[in-house]
Amino acid sequence: MASDSLQYFLFLVLISQAINPWIQQGFCTENSRDRCNEIERKSMLQFKESLSDPSGRLSSWTGESCCTWKGVTCDIKTGHVVKLNLRNPFPQTFDPTPESFDGNGMVYELSGKVSPSLVNLQHLSYFDLSMNNFQGTQIPGFLGSLTRLKYLNLSGASFAGKIPSSIGNLSGLHYLDLNSYTDEPVKNDIQWLSGLSSLRYLDLGGLDLSRASSHWLPTINMLASLSELHLSQCQLLNLPNSLPFINITSLSALDLSRNNFNSTMPNWLFNLSSLTDLDLSSNYGIRGQLSRNLGNLCKLRALNLNSNNIFGTLTEVIDGLSECTNSSMETLDLTFNQLSGNIPNSLGFLKNLRSLRLRNNSFTGSIPDTIGNLSSLEQLYLSFNQMSGAIPESLGKLVSLVYLDLHENSWEGVITEAHLINMSRLTEISIGKLSENISVVFNISPDWIPPFKLKFVQIQSCQLGPKFPTWLKNQDQLKNLIINFARISDSIPEWFLRLGLHLDELDLAYNNLSGMPPNSLQFNLGSNVDLSSNSFKGPLPLWSSNLTTLYLRNNSFSGPIPRDIGMVLPLLTDLDISRNSLTGGIPLSIGNMTSLTTLVISNNRLSGDIPDFWSNIPDLYILDMSNNSLTGRIPTSIGSLSFVKFLILSGNNLSGKLPSSLRNCTSTFSLDLGDNQLSGRLPAWIGKDMPSLLILRLRNNSLTGNIPSSICALSSLHILDLSENRLSGIIPTCLGNLSGFKAGLKTEDTEPYEGRLQVVAKGRVLVYQSTLYLVNSIDLSSNKFRGNIPAELTSLFRLGTLNLSMNGLTGPIPETIGRLERIETLDLSMNKLTGRIPQSMAALTFLNHLNLSSNNLSGRIPTGNQFQTLTDPSIYEGNIALCGDPLPTKCENSGTKPYPGGNVDEDENEEDDLEKLWFFLVVGLGYFLGFWGVCASLILKKSWGDAYFNFLLGLKDRIFYLAFAKWRKA
Ligand SMILES: *[C@@H]1O[C@H](CO)[C@@H](O)[C@H](O)[C@H]1NC(C)=O
Ligand SMILES: *[C@@H]1O[C@H](CO)[C@@H](O)[C@H](O)[C@H]1NC(C)=O
Ligand SMILES: *[C@@H]1O[C@H](CO)[C@@H](O)[C@H](O)[C@H]1NC(C)=O
Repeated sequence: MASDSLQYFLFLVLISQAINPWIQQGFCTENSRDRCNEIERKSMLQFKESLSDPSGRLSSWTGESCCTWKGVTCDIKTGHVVKLNLRNPFPQTFDPTPESFDGNGMVYELSGKVSPSLVNLQHLSYFDLSMNNFQGTQIPGFLGSLTRLKYLNLSGASFAGKIPSSIGNLSGLHYLDLNSYTDEPVKNDIQWLSGLSSLRYLDLGGLDLSRASSHWLPTINMLASLSELHLSQCQLLNLPNSLPFINITSLSALDLSRNNFNSTMPNWLFNLSSLTDLDLSSNYGIRGQLSRNLGNLCKLRALNLNSNNIFGTLTEVIDGLSECTNSSMETLDLTFNQLSGNIPNSLGFLKNLRSLRLRNNSFTGSIPDTIGNLSSLEQLYLSFNQMSGAIPESLGKLVSLVYLDLHENSWEGVITEAHLINMSRLTEISIGKLSENISVVFNISPDWIPPFKLKFVQIQSCQLGPKFPTWLKNQDQLKNLIINFARISDSIPEWFLRLGLHLDELDLAYNNLSGMPPNSLQFNLGSNVDLSSNSFKGPLPLWSSNLTTLYLRNNSFSGPIPRDIGMVLPLLTDLDISRNSLTGGIPLSIGNMTSLTTLVISNNRLSGDIPDFWSNIPDLYILDMSNNSLTGRIPTSIGSLSFVKFLILSGNNLSGKLPSSLRNCTSTFSLDLGDNQLSGRLPAWIGKDMPSLLILRLRNNSLTGNIPSSICALSSLHILDLSENRLSGIIPTCLGNLSGFKAGLKTEDTEPYEGRLQVVAKGRVLVYQSTLYLVNSIDLSSNKFRGNIPAELTSLFRLGTLNLSMNGLTGPIPETIGRLERIETLDLSMNKLTGRIPQSMAALTFLNHLNLSSNNLSGRIPTGNQFQTLTDPSIYEGNIALCGDPLPTKCENSGTKPYPGGNVDEDENEEDDLEKLWFFLVVGLGYFLGFWGVCASLILKKSWGDAYFNFLLGLKDRIFYLAFAKWRKA
């Protein structure tokens, strides 16, 4: 078939050459500018025929004068078509904004088949079909016989498949762009390139060149005239460190971004002295020290090493660049690497710098004073580093600055008008670090009228108060206003409401704002509101249907949740109205919020039954209705929440059995139904169907029956609280298998926890005070258990709390109890235990709360070590036969020796990541609900991978995204 068409082309070529002189003499004598070569004209008409052109871009292609057709250019002398420019002026696939449709929703793409008749345009030197849609057809091979082509652009035209090697015949080609924006399934080689010796511009971005991974560089190196090379996202693996000789010395732009290189920056790069643009970003694996040789590339205008693994300092590179006679550097992007050290003073010599992006590294020190010399600087991104000190006043000289991003560093000192006075173009400012500690104070005169109109303001943990900042008075362009931990004790001023803002985000959490909430504000589609932890009062505000997240926790809102909340806010994904004084029932309309992932209405005074609408909200991750006055049964449809991670219904008056539908909630981490009036047996399916449980809390109900042995299969369990029920039987020995209470996490174990927390973090996990300090805890107290304390329990050596009090347990305290080396609270009181207190207990160095009272223990109370600190006699009271300190009863003989192995290794550093994580999850966050994202950011590891990170990039919750970005780096 290939040879058939080749013969056909050759035939056409011969014909066209034979009749050319005749056409030129015969028809084109009058005006060869308008009239054109008839064969070329017909060929173009054939080409038009085979295309679909919905917007009529080729409507001028009629009549004889083909040289006047749109997109066609002829040679003035010969009348031959030399240029065909059919680039789609409104590429919609790439930029789906309304503008790309020219406002009319019109499709401007040409599509269909590229007719081989074009082979007759033998004088064509310029051919551009870019940004059209050829629907995955192959690049036509006949293009290889258009031997006069100098310019060929097929980028973004949805060609697919193998690149025909005939393209390699176009030895006169200067410009070749085959950039494919689609995922290309075919693996291409690039041997054919070696014939294109005149090439100056080459873009093969998006094509899978993994087959060329071993020889791509030597092949490219043959193209001695090359000045621009774009091989972004080509799945190249190998970036050779050396080249025997370099022919591509004219290279000025090199884009190797988004490949999979895993090596240091190669040496040959630094010999490319003509280089102006170098992009190695998003390889994730380019590693090693930042080479000082970069500082020799004086022509460099843009350097992008974003998202790699580069460490070292910046000083030598900047020093080097600053010594160039004329620094050209305009864009320096080193985001997401591991660079450290100070930002050098020599930065001030990079006079042409327009964009400096150093986010997410480990830079320390302050901003150099010389930054004020960078009068062209438009973008300054320094967030997520470890910088500190005062922000220099010279910042105020940055007259061109548009974006100022200083977030997540440890700045100190005062920010005054002088810092901001000349920034008339500023639109985005972010500074601070979400934390309770305030180290930066804004000292700005109440009358100051700033020269800028901000769109994005993020100021966190900087003192702006006590008054609502009046310098916002003329900021009528605001879209995102995030001011938290700013010590504002004020009400929202009238003038703020009169600014007529249409906000995307309003976050004034953690201030002391009072009065009525700003009800009259307007919000754009998909916006977020967070007014948590203030003193707002009045009825719950809902604003408009455009909201997707609404956090109003910890205020003084009162009255009922509006009945129509689900109609008003149908798009809501996150609703947290906990810790207010809301009354009445749970509105049925919440069942309309079908996108809800977080519903937290805890700690109010809500009453009535739990509605049965849960099957309408299948994506719910966090459901917390705890500490209200809800009554009735747990509705069956709660079992539809198959993704729910936190199911918290504790502290209500719920009754009846646990619905068996709950066994469908197979992803649950935390099941907390404590402090209700639930009855029936403790179901065995919990152990089988909720394998991810970290927290099982059913305390203070009326559950009966045994502990089913299936519970012992919950290998992640860290909190098991079944206290204050009517459970009976023996304590199963298999509880000793609960591996979550054993050996801390070895590295291989941490992965699943991180994996789990990813999911949790999505909904800004809240922390439940009910589980405060119950880290690694088993509480079976106040039941009717009998039999012995299983010695197996003492193998749970991460256990911090063991409470078996108020049961009917008999027999001795296990001799091996000293193995519970982390135990802090041990309560065995009010049982019928007999025998001695094991000597091994004296080794429990963390023990600070012990209760053995009201048993039948006997003999001498151990002495030494920890027991010296347990001097309260009530610990032991009610045991008639115990003697020795601290009881008044002296022992008869002193037969008992002090415990020999009293000194247990006390490895303070052993506190591993998981333990910290639990600390934050369960304890730390109890104080700052809604603060989880940040805390998680401090403890979670980079190994989460980028997929989730990318997901977060899409999140509107900018604070959380920033917090996430921080930990990713940590
Ligand atoms: C590349 O450079 C080498 C050494 O200077 C030279 O021998 C070779 O001919 C050059 N190749 C091309 C294609 O210019
Ligand atoms: C990158 O290379 C290093 C050293 O050769 C190797 O240890 C590491 O596993 C590689 N990483 C990947 C993702 O291939
Ligand atoms: C919702 O947002 C859209 C655009 O984002 C806006 O035009 C509209 O006025 C908003 N609606 C309300 C009720 O604020």
